[in-house]
Amino acid sequence: MDKYTYKVSAAGRVNIIGEHVDYCGGKVFPAALSLKNTVYVRPNGTDKINIRWTTLPDEVSLDVNALDSYRGLKYGNYQAGAAFMWKNAGHKIAGCDMLQDCTVPFGSGLSSSAAIEVSTIAALAAVAGETVDPVSAALVAQKAEREYAGVNCGIMDQYASACGKKGHAMLLDCKTLECKYVPVNFGDSELIIINTKKPHNLVESRYNERRSETEQALKILKGSTDIECLADLAPQRFEQLKQLLPPVIRARAEHVVYETERVKLAESAMRAGAMAELGKLLNSSHASLKNLYEVTGKELDALAAAAQSHPACYGSRMTGAGFGGCTVSIVKKAGAEDFKKYVSERYFKETGYVCECYDAEIADGIVTEEIK
Ligand code: GLA
Repeated sequence: MDKYTYKVSAAGRVNIIGEHVDYCGGKVFPAALSLKNTVYVRPNGTDKINIRWTTLPDEVSLDVNALDSYRGLKYGNYQAGAAFMWKNAGHKIAGCDMLQDCTVPFGSGLSSSAAIEVSTIAALAAVAGETVDPVSAALVAQKAEREYAGVNCGIMDQYASACGKKGHAMLLDCKTLECKYVPVNFGDSELIIINTKKPHNLVESRYNERRSETEQALKILKGSTDIECLADLAPQRFEQLKQLLPPVIRARAEHVVYETERVKLAESAMRAGAMAELGKLLNSSHASLKNLYEVTGKELDALAAAAQSHPACYGSRMTGAGFGGCTVSIVKKAGAEDFKKYVSERYFKETGYVCECYDAEIADGIVTEEIK
């Protein structure tokens, strides 16, 4: 490999629980993964950001003065969006050569896009001689995802990608951005992530639709109760008010209210190492995402059901936006190999897709190293 000046990476993430609540001001419980995007970068003294990939034949050259014009790129649009928003936030952009190496599978629901955006920002900061603040990088990356890539996302993915900590899950309050790091304590178990391998389709439009449904719920409920966001609504209060909402909107709101409760219980279960408890919460979360929020689909449901039926599994659910992507399961270490074999076979029989299991570790967010 050619010589580069910095090696900068940001993580993919798994969300343990707290799904589709970040944009409703709720708490989420993700962890950064060792699957990550790494950017090798060096200054080139021009006004171009030249990008190559370890895994793609494409080469892209972005003009630092025209960063707004690359939305249509198949590859390089996330990097362009991140650079554009970082520049707009007042940071210096130095011309540079980047080699991008992504080990987060694309379209898997493990936040490859956040890892790309955050690592690109951190690489641009490094090459401009700046020390990057991870929270600022996350917020700018979220802006890129929303305003450049067009997904009206919450803050969870970019925050986890930038601010993750090895061996810790993050209890992130998406209303205040207060984050508690909770040591992961899976006792006799481990986290197993499995990819449905179902190609995503229309994720952006359906994601944005869910978001607007929760906004409608908030608007209606605000007329009758003093809340700032949907996650502020306690279950008892929701039960008193739910008749005000039309059926579909009510179902979406019900998911948000009870998922928020499950996150609270999950924190205690994790701190106590109570895997049976945590597992039950994962199962309830999946059922709610399937029946009330309607973001799972045949493949995720088949994969979660197969996992949940195995005796070594404490619990399993979809993770991320849904509509395809991955499940996360808590599985006794002693039964893990049998679990993977059983789930893969049953899933194939039911759907015709060959799933993929990842042995991912919980890792740091942004890591910047100078290459000597
Ligand atoms: C995507 C978004 C996040 C979050 C999840 C669902 O990953 O980027 O902000 O809303 O979906 O929990």
